[in-house]
Amino acid sequence: MSVVPAPEQPAAPVQVVCATAGFTLVVPPETSILEAVRDAGLEVPPACAEGRCGICETRVLEGHPDHRDGVLTAEERALGDTMMICVSRARTGRLVLDL
Ligand code: FES
Repeated sequence: MSVVPAPEQPAAPVQVVCATAGFTLVVPPETSILEAVRDAGLEVPPACAEGRCGICETRVLEGHPDHRDGVLTAEERALGDTMMICVSRARTGRLVLDL
């Protein structure tokens, strides 16, 4: 059984590795992961940005998301295979995403 660390403080930055693009970002607490990757030049389709539509669903390769969306089921949240990068953060200091 793996142990999932407790969520970090809401004010903590998150290190996000964009595995496909080949770069790493440090996302400050006042910025969403979606905004950060878009600012870094990745194409992200226009969508709700409120955790409701599911368009920004992104595969998680490493790390544990802190889910804050209204899309995923409890089972999907527990699996942690994907996350909505517009609103969700991280329970670990680092996420590796399929971006
Ligand atoms: S943009 Fe709609 S759920 Fe993330």
